[in-house]
Amino acid sequence: MKAAVLEGINQKFVIKEVPKPTLIQSEVLVKIKAAALNHRDNWITKGKYAGLKFPIILGSDGSGIVEKVFDKENQHLVGQEVVINPGTNWGDNESFQSTDFKILGLPEDGTFAEYVKVNAENVYPKPNHLSFAEAAAFPLAGLTSYRALFSKARATKKDTVLIVGVGGGSATFALLWAINLGADVYVTSSSDEKIQKAIKLGAKGGVNYTKQDWDSDLKELSGGIDVIIDSAIGDGFAKHFSYINAGGRIVFFGATAGDLPPLNARAIFWKQIQIIGTTMGTSKDFEEMLTFINSNKIVPIIDQTFSLNDIDKAIQRMDAFNQFGKIILTL
Ligand SMILES: NC(=O)c1ccc[n+]([C@@H]2O[C@H](COP(=O)([O-])OP(=O)(O)OC[C@H]3O[C@@H](n4cnc5c(N)ncnc54)[C@H](OP(=O)(O)O)[C@@H]3O)[C@@H](O)[C@H]2O)c1
Repeated sequence: MKAAVLEGINQKFVIKEVPKPTLIQSEVLVKIKAAALNHRDNWITKGKYAGLKFPIILGSDGSGIVEKVFDKENQHLVGQEVVINPGTNWGDNESFQSTDFKILGLPEDGTFAEYVKVNAENVYPKPNHLSFAEAAAFPLAGLTSYRALFSKARATKKDTVLIVGVGGGSATFALLWAINLGADVYVTSSSDEKIQKAIKLGAKGGVNYTKQDWDSDLKELSGGIDVIIDSAIGDGFAKHFSYINAGGRIVFFGATAGDLPPLNARAIFWKQIQIIGTTMGTSKDFEEMLTFINSNKIVPIIDQTFSLNDIDKAIQRMDAFNQFGKIILTL
């Protein structure tokens, strides 16, 4: 089968023929129709990720058709159009993942290939209203944002929600989830154009975080924020305490712009702010997200689609923060 193989740090992907995966008990073989990039793939190409191994086929997100199953009881899955939940071995505790938790696309080979093997319990019916490309967009980023907004921040439609760096893949899902929840949503971005795109999708407004005094502008515009979903962190994180309302929740799962800056402890305890870390999500979160997508007929935002052969160009686009939404690979 054809695959994009990463053979080392800071190297280009090599498009080549590799053996098709061989199934063992409880596994199914999915013929991939579309895959999606996550920042994780970019971190791995740069060597900035734990547990690196080479050669590796990256890719956590994929949609396709089940071609083969190992166990007879999974025969009904053959021919089904599916999306893949990239997380395995979450463990028994809903609150956090076990030490055996794994994400598809390192250490196991992932979706940037014609075929991938996964556990039968990790495939879910593709929403009927979505194309394969749209369905490939949501698993990892959508799940992480879904858990952040619903399971962790416990957002309701009464909340005013801020999405930081709205152009990012997971940020655009946080935007879609919060809008469909019926909350008032504000965004930050480095790009005025991306803010306008978010407003067209239903955000109430936004500010450009590269401009001076963006935090006081945001406070005036929004009247105060209850829930913040931030996957960038960096120095901007310290500003949250000037516009967050008492009882506010800040959920984060990434640190694209760097680590936490010094924070004003008094503002945090006096306003009774919760700062909450999260990562990916349980199979229950994944199922709830699918129900939310299906019942609201939500369509993921696709930035651009590349062929597998052009994977290096796709990674470069992510690296330059040019995207608004998910970067897709088609096979
Ligand atoms: N723990 C987990 O389970 C988990 C899951 C998913 C993602 N993540 C992490 O979350 C982060 C985002 O992932 P992704 O796949 O959504 O990435 P992505 O699509 O590459 O998102 C990048 C976006 O981050 C925003 N950004 C960059 N610098 C910023 C800054 N200084 N202030 C505010 N926003 C900034 C930009 O938004 P604008 O273009 O609008 O400025 C950019 O488009 C990554 O660090 C990733 O590793 C973690």
